[in-house]
Amino acid sequence: MKTLIRNIKTIVGAESNPKGRVCGQEMNRVQCIHNGWISIADDIISGVGEMKDIPSANQFDMVKDADDRLILPAWCDPHTHLIYAGSREGEFIDRIRGLSYEEIAHKGGGILNSAEKLNNISEDELFIGALNRLNEIARYGTGAVEIKSGYGLTVEGELKMLRVIKRLKKHSPLTIKATFLGAHAIPLKYKQNRSGYIDIIVNEMLPEIGREKLADYCDVFCDRGFFTPDETTTILQAASKYGLQPKIHANELDYSGGIQVGVSNNALSVDHLEYTGDKEIEALRNSTTMPTLLPSTAFFLNLPYPPARKMIDAGLPVALATDYNPGSSPSGKMQFVLSLACIKLKMLPEEAINAATLNAAYAMGLSATHGSITVGKKANLIITKPLDNYNLIPYSFGSEVIDWVLIGGKAHSDDK
Ligand code: NIG
Ligand code: FE
Repeated sequence: MKTLIRNIKTIVGAESNPKGRVCGQEMNRVQCIHNGWISIADDIISGVGEMKDIPSANQFDMVKDADDRLILPAWCDPHTHLIYAGSREGEFIDRIRGLSYEEIAHKGGGILNSAEKLNNISEDELFIGALNRLNEIARYGTGAVEIKSGYGLTVEGELKMLRVIKRLKKHSPLTIKATFLGAHAIPLKYKQNRSGYIDIIVNEMLPEIGREKLADYCDVFCDRGFFTPDETTTILQAASKYGLQPKIHANELDYSGGIQVGVSNNALSVDHLEYTGDKEIEALRNSTTMPTLLPSTAFFLNLPYPPARKMIDAGLPVALATDYNPGSSPSGKMQFVLSLACIKLKMLPEEAINAATLNAAYAMGLSATHGSITVGKKANLIITKPLDNYNLIPYSFGSEVIDWVLIGGKAHSDDK
């Protein structure tokens, strides 16, 4: 199937020779082609150019006019927990009344609340719920997503979640990466025997995950009240025997040492980073670890926002993700994350777009195939409503700016 999209007002992120990631000042540049065309062969971008060089329409099976629309690479969302069994609005009310996220967790709520629900429903029910959420985020313009386990916290529960991800990889047109997060919380039963639970992760969960090839990455919630840096190192080293690179939760609740542990274990990304100071920035400099920021979590939990400006000004790259989950960010909408990045993290629209496309693709090992409009990359594209320029995307925080979305060259929500 050969498709031509012509009369595109602006092709945003049209990189003929894209880098694997962009750092510091480079983040402030987005390559654009005004008045252009894109051709697609099956699921791959086959050509990009200016209208004056457009190929003849009769070579194509389908020709579409974009008119006053912009086209961007589909968002990449490198941090979600979108497999879950039920919402947690009771905790939302508890926080309005003054309890903190950590206080709720200490009472056995939070992640443990989700784990209890998840262990009580079937793999099929979980699969259907997650597939609906994938369709929802595709409508919002996301074409590639990372999904974590971590609401099982038992051997059966964790494997059930990862098997759901394996099925989603087959059934969904989105590109999906799977992350094992058995170390999301210590189950109540092991509160007095932390090392007993870590032994189960290392000796029971990881070997089976390795045997069934159920995960691409390994995560640990390395933070105050959850897992210590030493426990994190033990788990990450065990995971590396099965080829699982770290992508970890770090410094959401405190200066936990998580960023340093991630960097020293060669993490692909360290995520959250609300508590990032000079030492943490220094640890990230000259590393290949992507700092990934989740501003909708800070928004929803009323946490301080991560110091993105300081990080970018220090020459670091930054990626953005939704953290879609029932406890700390019940939203998978990347457009809102871009708005928060601009409004609260003081990122410029170009920086936010790079962080949500190329750098987000890097944070899930996909930057060779995703994250820019480049010949040979996957045809995952956002076609906006008629818009004057891309600044209107983060600016219009509550409005729908997307008209249609192509995932692997196919229209996701309709056949326009
Ligand atoms: O990324 N911080 C740890 N994990 C999730 C929250 C999970 C939950 O509360 O259910 C997060 O915010
Ligand atoms: Fe998370």
